[in-house]
Amino acid sequence: MKTISLPSGEVVPMLGQGTWYMGEDQRRRAEEAAALKLGLDLGMTLIDTAEMYASGGAEEVVREAVAGRRDEVFIVSKVLPSNASLRGTQAACDRSLKRLGTDRIDLYLLHWRGGVPLSETVAAFDALKAAGKIRHWGVSNFDVDDMEELDAGSEAQANQVLYNLTRRGVEFDLLPWLEERSIPAMAYSPIEQGILQDDRRLAGIAARHGATAAQIALAFAMRSGNVIAIPKAVQAEHVRANRAALDIELTNEDLAELDAAFPPPARKQSLEMI
Ligand SMILES: NC(=O)c1ccc[n+]([C@@H]2O[C@H](COP(=O)([O-])OP(=O)(O)OC[C@H]3O[C@@H](n4cnc5c(N)ncnc54)[C@H](OP(=O)(O)O)[C@@H]3O)[C@@H](O)[C@H]2O)c1
Repeated sequence: MKTISLPSGEVVPMLGQGTWYMGEDQRRRAEEAAALKLGLDLGMTLIDTAEMYASGGAEEVVREAVAGRRDEVFIVSKVLPSNASLRGTQAACDRSLKRLGTDRIDLYLLHWRGGVPLSETVAAFDALKAAGKIRHWGVSNFDVDDMEELDAGSEAQANQVLYNLTRRGVEFDLLPWLEERSIPAMAYSPIEQGILQDDRRLAGIAARHGATAAQIALAFAMRSGNVIAIPKAVQAEHVRANRAALDIELTNEDLAELDAAFPPPARKQSLEMI
């Protein structure tokens, strides 16, 4: 498994697993937990979830997936901006811990910026760290100006943003900003919610690598070495394919072809969210 170092020095896998839309349907939960377990077996031991997903249902699926092997897993969860006050964050974290069936979240993110002053949410994260309920904190959907508003000595360990071949705006300024500070980006929706699996523009490169379009999309997202990708997959075949994508090395020729089909940004673009 390729890895990335967080600013704290902790090493995490470059490829993790998403959970959005898991936990929505009781009848699918066993299958979803099995997919996450397979991913863990294959080394994708970073799992991304949030209190928002299925109103806590996704965290319950994670609980099932990590049962008996919690120490192998790096759990990322997120607090909603509407809960991100000093007390609200701590209460939301307690609820998440209960649903996750664990005593600590490895990385706790502010899901996106809302009305609560950042300093208040950071104070809540600090209190949660001091209490041992979270090990690290970070942010999500933060643009450069939001990152700059965090204290210079901020302990933010990651910024999770929408990033894939069709959403390259962050390459202009945000990804370089993070890389300069050795703060990893986490690419969410790296397959554009599955849409890129059918993108014919990827067919030629995929054929050259004996891979699928989705695998090329993942290899692209992770190519810099400072981006953690967190695809969500329930089908076992997809879980295996995602793990294999980590071993694809895109050539200069591939990258030039991708630039022609999915042009990189020429100027600042406002941050996109799904
Ligand atoms: N911070 C935020 O605001 C934010 C926003 C969105 C997402 N996220 C996080 O990022 C994770 C990933 O993003 P996402 O779920 O939106 O989209 P995604 O990972 O880009 O796409 C998921 C879809 O792609 C399919 N898929 C996965 N691997 C595949 C493969 N190898 N070949 C073909 N199809 C494949 C999945 O199918 P099956 O499930 O049927 O296998 C699913 O339909 C989320 O689950 C969530 O944890 C965070």
